[in-house]
Amino acid sequence: MKSKIIVTGGAGYIGSHTVIELINAGYEPILVDNFSNSFPFMLDQLEEILGRKVTFYECDCGESEFETVFQKEGKIDGVIHFAAYKAVGESVANPMKYYKNNVGSLINLLGLMEKYEVKNLVFSSSCTVYGEPDKLPVKEDTPSQPANSPYGNTKQICEEIINDLVNSKAPMKAILLRYFNPIGAHNSGLIGELPIGTPNNLIPFITQTAAGIREQITVFGGDYNTIDGTCIRDYIHVVDLAKAHVKAMAYSAKQTSDSFSDVFNLGVGLGSTVLEVINAFEKSTGEKLNYKIGPRRAGDVEKIYADASKSLALLDWKTEISLEESLKDAWNWQVNLKKYEHLFK
Ligand code: NAD
Ligand code: WQD
Repeated sequence: MKSKIIVTGGAGYIGSHTVIELINAGYEPILVDNFSNSFPFMLDQLEEILGRKVTFYECDCGESEFETVFQKEGKIDGVIHFAAYKAVGESVANPMKYYKNNVGSLINLLGLMEKYEVKNLVFSSSCTVYGEPDKLPVKEDTPSQPANSPYGNTKQICEEIINDLVNSKAPMKAILLRYFNPIGAHNSGLIGELPIGTPNNLIPFITQTAAGIREQITVFGGDYNTIDGTCIRDYIHVVDLAKAHVKAMAYSAKQTSDSFSDVFNLGVGLGSTVLEVINAFEKSTGEKLNYKIGPRRAGDVEKIYADASKSLALLDWKTEISLEESLKDAWNWQVNLKKYEHLFK
């Protein structure tokens, strides 16, 4: 029998790509999503890529209805918990929405995992927990700075809740994955990021500008202490990221201790400036981008990129897809999106 893995947020950007990698690796994913930031047609897209149906529950994993999944599915071997809200600005404007969903759904999940004796957890954390680091690249033991948004705080709190549980010797094997900046899309062009309204992140803003949906992109700040004055980030292809979850689940399952947690950076290990990303986009797609340098965005970290050597050493994982390839895939997805507009607007 295949190992069943509950994937909360399985219709979302990173979750949907991870479902494919889980199936490729011989797992049976059980998707759970309430479509608060995704759309049902993503499941059809997934099924087209996979050539098979996926098991899906439309439910809120912060509510009591989530228990039905555990009751109906029988033995579950692990959970990958993606479900959360992720818009930094919105979290500042409406913090309780973020604490309730991001922290509340984790607490509900942990209770159900205990009740149904599910031990393996992979949790979506973020490089946002590091804040503005003093030393680069950041390692997993680089001290976290106070969060600069309620969203970031939910990730710090969730990490602490999981670690406290493990320290209490609860039967829980948890892997905390700190993602850097996920970009790109599946190379089929059938799934990808689906920002609702004005995008918050750089790459969808770039692709929407190139597609003529937005007139111009503003580069937030040209006076940072970097080679070209623009901020540095570590951009990682979503398929590389998805593959790390499969490795993390296998790593968790093979731990002999009953209570265990560990944390891993998931990044390329290289920093790129905003202007380097724009140049790479223009080079790899042949599209010209209308951009201007504008004022800094409040709360932006000047530079951050990962030391991902621990993930290589322990998870046997490293990235394989270049920045240019990632941007080409993001553009391919943007072009294809026209076909699906009626399904998500
Ligand atoms: P996403 O919004 O595309 O996916 C999240 C999915 O979870 C959505 O489909 C949404 O409908 C669902 N969801 C939210 N709350 C739910 C609930 N209570 N019950 C059921 N479903 C719920 O986001 P993503 O980019 O795929 O991010 C996945 C995870 O990775 C999140 O935890 C996010 O905080 C984290 N993360 C994302 C990034 C990024 O830049 N994309 C970076 C670091 C960490
Ligand atoms: C990248 C760079 C911007 C838009 C966010 C979250 C973080 C994590 C990853 C979840 C920055 C610049 C952007 C634009 C620009 N998510 N930019 N013009 O800020 O690294 O992190 O996503 O955990 O928590 O805060 O990502 O894509 O918003 O920005 O110049 O229109 O692009 O200033 O330097 P960021 P981003």
